[in-house]
Amino acid sequence: MYEQEIERRRTFAIISHPDAGKTTLTEKMLLFGGAIHVAGAVKSNKIRKTATSDWMEIEKQRGISVATSVMGFDYQDYKINILDTPGHQDFAEDTFRTLTAVDSVIIVVDSAKGVEAQTRKLMQVCRMRKTPVMIFLNKMDREGKNPFDLLDELEKELQIGVCPLSFPIGMGQTFKGVYNIFEKNLNLYQPNKQTISEAISFNDINSPELENHIGNQAKQLRTDIELVQGVYDDFSYDSGVAKYLRGELAPVFFGSALNNFGIKELLDCFVKIAPSPLPVEAVERKIEPTEEGFSGFVFKIHANMDPNHRSCIAFVKICSGKFVRNEPYLHIRLGKQLKFSSPTAFMAQKKETVDEMFAGDIVGLPDTGNFKIGDTLTSGENLHFKGLPSFSPEMFKYIENADPMKSKQLNKGIEQLMGEGVAQLFTHQNNGRKIIGTVGQLQFEVIEYRLLHEYQAQCRWEPISLYKACWLECENTEELENFKRRKFQYMAKDTHDRDVFLAESGYVLQMAQNDFKNIKFHFNSEF
Ligand code: G4P
Repeated sequence: MYEQEIERRRTFAIISHPDAGKTTLTEKMLLFGGAIHVAGAVKSNKIRKTATSDWMEIEKQRGISVATSVMGFDYQDYKINILDTPGHQDFAEDTFRTLTAVDSVIIVVDSAKGVEAQTRKLMQVCRMRKTPVMIFLNKMDREGKNPFDLLDELEKELQIGVCPLSFPIGMGQTFKGVYNIFEKNLNLYQPNKQTISEAISFNDINSPELENHIGNQAKQLRTDIELVQGVYDDFSYDSGVAKYLRGELAPVFFGSALNNFGIKELLDCFVKIAPSPLPVEAVERKIEPTEEGFSGFVFKIHANMDPNHRSCIAFVKICSGKFVRNEPYLHIRLGKQLKFSSPTAFMAQKKETVDEMFAGDIVGLPDTGNFKIGDTLTSGENLHFKGLPSFSPEMFKYIENADPMKSKQLNKGIEQLMGEGVAQLFTHQNNGRKIIGTVGQLQFEVIEYRLLHEYQAQCRWEPISLYKACWLECENTEELENFKRRKFQYMAKDTHDRDVFLAESGYVLQMAQNDFKNIKFHFNSEF
């Protein structure tokens, strides 16, 4: 019904290790789309990679950063939605969830540093979900690693096939530009932060004409391209794209985001081959984006829009059909119809109220506590979307009430903050104590601060030494019950009432795996 609108949508996230150039690339894409006119605009909204002591600073910036949570703009005939992911690694869980709302991903890698920790981790999530991935090797204007070494490193570290679709001519001081293997043209490098250089069509790199452009580096380029063609499969339209769409092969582009260079190659190829909104699995059935009925799920909640009223924005990924302002939609978990008078679209840097949006788009719904992460909205059908897994936290602490008069407020605060996905809550089956699990120290500070300022509740942290939270899977009920009895002191429930084993150390976990061979210990809640 809305095929044309949906077909032209490209919803994706740019991910990287902090400092590789994600913000710069995002900004340059907006520049290309004509959505902004000067570089620097996104940057000023960026949550800086601050030390934990600067948490107040981050809080201050959160208010502005909502504008850059989703950036929609038109490019050629396409509607592009870039979903921003937090740079700070303590918010990695936020990023994981954002990845559930995108149809593809662009990974930015610093060509001097190669694959870094955060990228490796995020790629694991992409692999799990078979998300199509493109890679941009950034900062070619600086001395970096050899391009072939980089390609090998990507393949090995990210465990994905790669296929260079552009290739650099020199790097750092000798960087001359890129040869676009996909489109067969040459783009000569002119460092410029604000404007875009035009590529020269160049079908035959064996032509002596090449020397006129890049002098004695022509010989090297010819050798490199020959090697590329010998080593990497031809990304001919069918098999290459099909592999990319299955998440098996990542096209690679080289460039310099800061200098606006190599991005057009990336973006033009991206809009051509990246998937339009994909079908989404619900527990009940598979949902096609082009279905008439509206459906969507909440993947992110941005709180603190106004701390006095606990107002937030729930970000809903539209999975099918069309979202219409003031139409009643069924909130599945609450079993009630809700209408939204001011749904928000995110266009470049602005938010604006809109009347309708389509599958692939992200709609922001102002909320005062109706939504939790993972909630589903539909035109009426009873659907539950899958695919919002929790991952084992890295840090754990007992949370205790520091003000006995405010225990109701504390419990309410904890429940709502967990619903927003700030951290994870486990309840000890042995003693009923509450354990908060996070990715980093910063989240504990966020929770403490928000409990105090939004709920007037005071908490106290107590140490608990844990290695991982494991979700259990076992077909043999007797063995599972036996395990739970034996490990009674280490069993907890997550907020969905699932059994979780809290392993004290890697050794304890290994022993448990040895002793209970039929039990699978998962580091995420969806398997
Ligand atoms: P992030 O979002 O992935 O964390 O990275 P961001 O874009 O903020 O880039 C990190 C730093 O790398 C920035 O420098 C940015 O200017 C620089 N950078 C990005 N792309 C390129 C490139 O192609 N070449 C070079 N040489 N540098 C690049 P900064 O000093 O941290 O910030 P700023 O002072 O430049 O704003």
